[in-house]
Amino acid sequence: VAPSPAAAARRGCPIDHAALSAHKAPTGCPVSHRAADFDPFSDGYQQNPPDYVRWSREQEPVFYSPQLGYWVVTRFDDIKAIFRDNISFSPSIALEKITPTGPEANAVLAQYGFALNRTLVNEDEPAHMPRRRALMDPFTPEHLAHHEPLVRRLAREYVDRFIDDGRADLVDQMLWEVPLTVALHFLGVPEEDMDKLREYSIAHTVNTWGRPKPEEQVAVAHAVGNFWQLAGKVLEKMRQNPEADGWMQYGIRKQKEMPEVVTDSYLHSMMMAGIVAAHETTANATANAVKLLLQHPHVWREICEDPSLIPNAVEECLRHNGSVAAWRRLATVDCEVGGVPILAGSKLLIVTSSANHDEGHFADADLLDIRRDNASDHLTFGYGSHQCMGKNLARMEMQVFLEEFTRRLPHMKLAPQSFSYVPNTSFRGPEHLWVEWDPAQNPERRDAAVREGERSPVRIGEPSGHAISRPVRVEAATPAADGVLHLRLVAPDGTSLPRWAPGSHIDVECGDSGLSRQYSLCGDPADARAFEIAVLDDPDSRGGSAWVHANVKPGDRLRIRGPRNHFRLDEGAQRLVFVAGGIGITPVMAMARRAREMGTPYELHYCGRKREGMAFIDALQALHGEHLKLHVSEEGSRLDLQTLLATPQEGTQVYACGPLRMLQALEAACVHWPEDTLRVEHFESTLGTLDPSKEQAFEVELKDSGLTLPVRADQTLLAALRAANIDVQSDCEEGLCGSCEVRVLQGPVDHRDMVLTRSEREAGQRMMSCCSRACGGQKLVLAL
Ligand code: HEM
Repeated sequence: VAPSPAAAARRGCPIDHAALSAHKAPTGCPVSHRAADFDPFSDGYQQNPPDYVRWSREQEPVFYSPQLGYWVVTRFDDIKAIFRDNISFSPSIALEKITPTGPEANAVLAQYGFALNRTLVNEDEPAHMPRRRALMDPFTPEHLAHHEPLVRRLAREYVDRFIDDGRADLVDQMLWEVPLTVALHFLGVPEEDMDKLREYSIAHTVNTWGRPKPEEQVAVAHAVGNFWQLAGKVLEKMRQNPEADGWMQYGIRKQKEMPEVVTDSYLHSMMMAGIVAAHETTANATANAVKLLLQHPHVWREICEDPSLIPNAVEECLRHNGSVAAWRRLATVDCEVGGVPILAGSKLLIVTSSANHDEGHFADADLLDIRRDNASDHLTFGYGSHQCMGKNLARMEMQVFLEEFTRRLPHMKLAPQSFSYVPNTSFRGPEHLWVEWDPAQNPERRDAAVREGERSPVRIGEPSGHAISRPVRVEAATPAADGVLHLRLVAPDGTSLPRWAPGSHIDVECGDSGLSRQYSLCGDPADARAFEIAVLDDPDSRGGSAWVHANVKPGDRLRIRGPRNHFRLDEGAQRLVFVAGGIGITPVMAMARRAREMGTPYELHYCGRKREGMAFIDALQALHGEHLKLHVSEEGSRLDLQTLLATPQEGTQVYACGPLRMLQALEAACVHWPEDTLRVEHFESTLGTLDPSKEQAFEVELKDSGLTLPVRADQTLLAALRAANIDVQSDCEEGLCGSCEVRVLQGPVDHRDMVLTRSEREAGQRMMSCCSRACGGQKLVLAL
């Protein structure tokens, strides 16, 4: 119930409660002071949206903004759930004017016959998916590849124009025009009228997502009206030549096959909206990325030295500082978001840039970490059935631009300046980006070949974990037991390393041997300076550990990947039992340290054949005292698993790492315990290569994306998903690491990975897309 105005005034509530109830706030006055102050047109939001709503992410993740008349949602899980359900949360308001214009501006728009209508991004079902499916082909990685030479040529020519000047506004001199030209080519539009289109598309942004002042509204309306008419004229020109290349011509051809799906109204509206979708988003995203990277000179240096880092750097920039800061949905039913009741008819501003900084999903979320393994989970492209169709074109352009800059202008720096943004809720990028450099130092003055450069292949699609490595220096290499080498790895420049949690591992690349091996981190997560691992020189190893023992010395440089964590400790467990066999102590010791810190009751069983071969015994005894139980078989003290696990206990979790035989014995000893009591870590795969003669093809239905795809007998599920533009991360592609896990909603899975527990397999709700398939060629339904 809304308090009386007098009561509200006594509490200093700044809200007009009458206006609030008109906006359907269901619970009286849910508006805190900070929510009342929220103003997405203010400089605070414009400069840094995720920082501006940090308070909300932390304290009030779903709040009502009386200034905007919208519910604002700021956490990752809530926003992803909204994207997932495009029926309860309709996209129909995505292109609606966020600030309604006055009668004069509306009259101007009417005079131009302005009728921007449903396109794709704001179309409801059941109309949307058939149209999206009909128009998707030109966006698949296979079809996008032929745009790459154009992007490269344009990037080179534009840099040629200013490379000798020592100073440039990258937005004005390159980043605005190149993505516009690429967008026009992609759409199939002739290149003329570029300046007009530029002016018009800014007006369209302000008209849709901005707050033009009454006196500006009329000028904006004229520009938008002109844009609309120009779009109509260009479309007519295209209809004269429907066989030409271009997405619009593809749409014109599809219209002949399915006129009820690809309508006239759609084509005209898309002609206008498509330019903005493809152009401004990418121009802004590149400007944001270059600015962010130059603000982190050590990161800039790293990508200059190692361009293979660029694909993931692009992804991390899109996460950290993307060009779409927020998107919109309309609640069509009474529902809850993050536990807050929302009435049908409520409008939602979903602040995707805030989701991208949610600590609950991205560890150390404010850090720019170009090796972050889940960077591509960001929501800058939206998610689900409306997810950006052009994402892989944008990623490709951004990679080419960064490659060009890092190769030809590695000495570029940000010039002193303050950044301005076109005030609006959604589209975000600096209006100018001044950079400077000393032309005498241009690498191509010494070596003309730099201009052409070596081309590292652009990755069309979501970046792969394989490419993301990080240099480290071996600070110490000391024996920790017979045959066990303890390595302390630090950043070469002594800076902090990414945060990690117990159970995490890193992959160590073994020089030029082509081998890389996974080792659990065994140090203290609070020590941000170093990663510690312990490597057993195992005669049965596949060569990686032998390489480490033979080659690694203090002072050496190594390349590593990660950290990644597929062996997470459940911090909510009431009691923890840790069982380690031999070198399996490494992840377990980091977990036991955490249990001790949290004050959770725990015991640590450490088994080995002989004491001299068991690493870290002294340190473990000093830290864990009587919580540590040593079982040294040569000394006759074997661990009796049957006795240890005789009586199941609710709330207890057992974490184990060690030889396969020990893990199998543990699994047998835990059968009468509640499901998922036992969590284990494997480091070796039994997976062979895919043999098409033994496999069956099957179908997958993707619930969130509204697609059904065939998976051929000679193809993994992961490969089929990627070919259809669905982002799935992957790393080992051997069923070991868990990166490529997808959620299964229906259908029997033939599990072939080493990640899931028995009951997780039986539950059939998750599968590893790199290796697991459908049983007997049956259909699977996935939450993708
Ligand atoms: C949709 C962002 C580049 C074409 C979207 C959506 C977002 C977005 C947030 C709405 C997603 C949703 O509702 O779930 C971006 C960003 C880009 C970019 C940040 C650049 C960095 C492009 C490019 C094209 C494009 C280059 C075309 C060549 C589209 C289309 C849709 C869309 C057609 C509508 C999809 C649908 O509703 O089914 N984009 N976009 N975008 N984008 Fe992009």
